[in-house]
Amino acid sequence: MPVSSTRKKSASQTSRSKGGAPAGSRAKPTGKRARKLDVNVVMGASGSGKTTYVMNEIDRLKPSRLIVWDAKGEFADEGYAQTVGSVAELVRVVVAAGPSGAFKVAYRPKGTPAQVRRAFDLIATLAFEAKNLTFVAEELSEVCQGGQSDSAGWRKCITQGRTEGLTIYALSQRPALIDKNTLGNASLTRCGLLDWLPDAKLMAQKFRCKPEELLDMPELAFIQHTRGGITRGSMLS
Ligand SMILES: Nc1ncnc2c1ncn2[C@@H]1O[C@H](COP(=O)(O)OP(=O)(O)O)[C@@H](O)[C@H]1O
Ligand SMILES: [Mg+2]
Repeated sequence: MPVSSTRKKSASQTSRSKGGAPAGSRAKPTGKRARKLDVNVVMGASGSGKTTYVMNEIDRLKPSRLIVWDAKGEFADEGYAQTVGSVAELVRVVVAAGPSGAFKVAYRPKGTPAQVRRAFDLIATLAFEAKNLTFVAEELSEVCQGGQSDSAGWRKCITQGRTEGLTIYALSQRPALIDKNTLGNASLTRCGLLDWLPDAKLMAQKFRCKPEELLDMPELAFIQHTRGGITRGSMLS
């Protein structure tokens, strides 16, 4: 039967026929799979420096393709992206740019909570499909419910965005209210002062510190976790 004859083929035979590693050597990821996870989770109370940090990152990295879920309109106000009036307009701009064209667009959410969540899902799906771009999501807790996101588009960005060339910045004042997938998939987690003990307890697990350190953080100080380790610093130094 054709099915059993396919099954008889060993995994190494299959990979060789596609030009993979020769027998005896170790396969190394190439192309899309070789890309680094770039999910940056930026947490902290209002005024703790989250937006400033992400704007500094944009200044440093100068992404040519940028979508901002601009909850307070700050990225548009400060010239980081051009605001669009509707999700449809945002789709038009991004699709017109093709696979490698430049754009810097910001969408400021409006409407009922359900409408806002729907718009977020559409934009996250667009970001995933457009590929090779930076996606900033301001105040993620506003599009999550009960510490979960029902956005399939956002889930794809977080879990599969690495191979699609996505750089993601997810910001929130309330880490306990954002979805755990985002926290769990972060390549970089940064946190400033927190106001609430449940938020501090959650983040303290990530930083292996006491919750009090996060609740008593000096102005514009932060703790940062990457796979390279945990560091502490201040935006004032
Ligand atoms: N390096 C810095 N030196 C002085 N003030 C700063 C610095 N970085 C940020 N701030 C100030 O801290 C405040 C909070 O920053 P912001 O990024 O808007 O916080 P958040 O997004 O967490 O609410 C702003 O008034 C900003 O100007
Ligand atoms: Mg902010």
